[in-house]
Amino acid sequence: MAESKYRTILEAKSGELEALKDKAIKDTWQPIYHIHPQYGLMNDPNGLIQLNGEYHVFYQWYPYGAMHGMKHWAHVKSTDLVTWERLPVALTPTEEYESHGAYSGGAIEKDGQGLLFYTGNVKYEDGSRSANQCIAMLNRDGSVEKYTHNPAVQGVPDGYTGHVRDPKVWKENDTYYMLLGAQRENETGALIVYESSDALQWSFKGEVKTSLPDFGYMWECPDYFKLDGKDVFVFSPQGIKADGHNFYNIYNVIYAVGTFDVESLTFEMEYYREIDKGFDFYAPQTFQDESGRRLLFAWIGNPDVDYPSDEYGWAHALTLPRELSLEGNELVQKPVEELHKLRDQAVHFRGTLKNEEVIIDEATNNAYEINMTFREIGAKQFGLELFNSKEEELRLVFDTEKQEVRLDRSSFHHQYATEYGVVRSEKWTASNEVDVRVFVDKSIVEIYINGGKIVFTSRVFPKKDSKSAVNVFAEGAVDYRIDYYGMS
Ligand code: FRU
Repeated sequence: MAESKYRTILEAKSGELEALKDKAIKDTWQPIYHIHPQYGLMNDPNGLIQLNGEYHVFYQWYPYGAMHGMKHWAHVKSTDLVTWERLPVALTPTEEYESHGAYSGGAIEKDGQGLLFYTGNVKYEDGSRSANQCIAMLNRDGSVEKYTHNPAVQGVPDGYTGHVRDPKVWKENDTYYMLLGAQRENETGALIVYESSDALQWSFKGEVKTSLPDFGYMWECPDYFKLDGKDVFVFSPQGIKADGHNFYNIYNVIYAVGTFDVESLTFEMEYYREIDKGFDFYAPQTFQDESGRRLLFAWIGNPDVDYPSDEYGWAHALTLPRELSLEGNELVQKPVEELHKLRDQAVHFRGTLKNEEVIIDEATNNAYEINMTFREIGAKQFGLELFNSKEEELRLVFDTEKQEVRLDRSSFHHQYATEYGVVRSEKWTASNEVDVRVFVDKSIVEIYINGGKIVFTSRVFPKKDSKSAVNVFAEGAVDYRIDYYGMS
């Protein structure tokens, strides 16, 4: 009989976890500076918090291979957002109220301690499901204990299906609010809110009234925060049709900017947009750190998609931490300053390209950062080819005629999720200068354009034996300045 995928780590057979570790470590597609699991599958970032100077990152984790099964909360911590220490598994779903997994949620600080909120996922034999909202304490020594009165919220409110999950809690005017992603009985997505005076006992308040009433069948991983004087919601809607440059991945992520009145739960929306334009990005979560920065981590991956590295029994990674700000209603994402620590010696390239290429051969080990500017743009098309091995390349093309920027991974031998297309794009207005910052980490690429106003996060799986370079190209003339940093 097939092994149940609802097995906790406590039920591992002797030698099983070591064997999983040995298999995964052989994979040269494993990143070196992005948070990822040693083995098994990770998905959403959870419980993000800085407590007593230390950053804690939890993530959804299934131990027994590259598949979605019994979800635990894995745990890493850091003092500088660069070097991460692995801690024991924080939440193992051993209780009836979480019989099919400790699902996603957020964290807050209360009286010097961390409070973690998560969804106890419950499935029944007839295929139906329910959800309980649960709490755990994060102690200053990094240990985690489940709240003895769990679940804090039992079941789902009237009018919604069993798809109610991913609590994100914040405090405002002495009241705690818990935001949840939900599905209405008519199978449309929504956001609902509970409130509490002590963050432990909760009562249902209602649904957030937005001007996006019919936007897919389920909204996952909601987030809410204030940023630069505005209110921002972030969530991951499922069931939206691709349109123009937008919504090509199986599921998508949007941010919406406006004014939120928490009393009446009314959100006057001014603007919304997809957060990230890459192939692999889902379920982001933000938190405010002790210096007041609003930081975001996301899952570099998609649900319900198989990846070439699955055969090694591990899957996925988290994005680099990004500092958020607003410029007007546009969200700007900037990799945190601390990441400079990863850089080796810089190599500089400067010059003018005229219908030709410059090749950076240093980039063979696919672990580097590039910081570059294109100026004096007289080219129809120009851009970068990453992971270039003559046979394969990831092409980033700025197209001044079509006024768009495209990311094209069609030439790779290892393809996946091709039913969702092999090119992603965003509108881009040609100006006299473009800056591009790229982080490459073995099979991960994060591309930040114009200071982080356009971001593409993606995986690519280059042939195992290929030697990669970076090519910079232009059809026409363009000036370039490149600072290249190896990462080790
Ligand atoms: C999003 C999600 C969440 C859920 C978790 C389960 O990727 O489906 O809604 O809590 O993953 O792992």
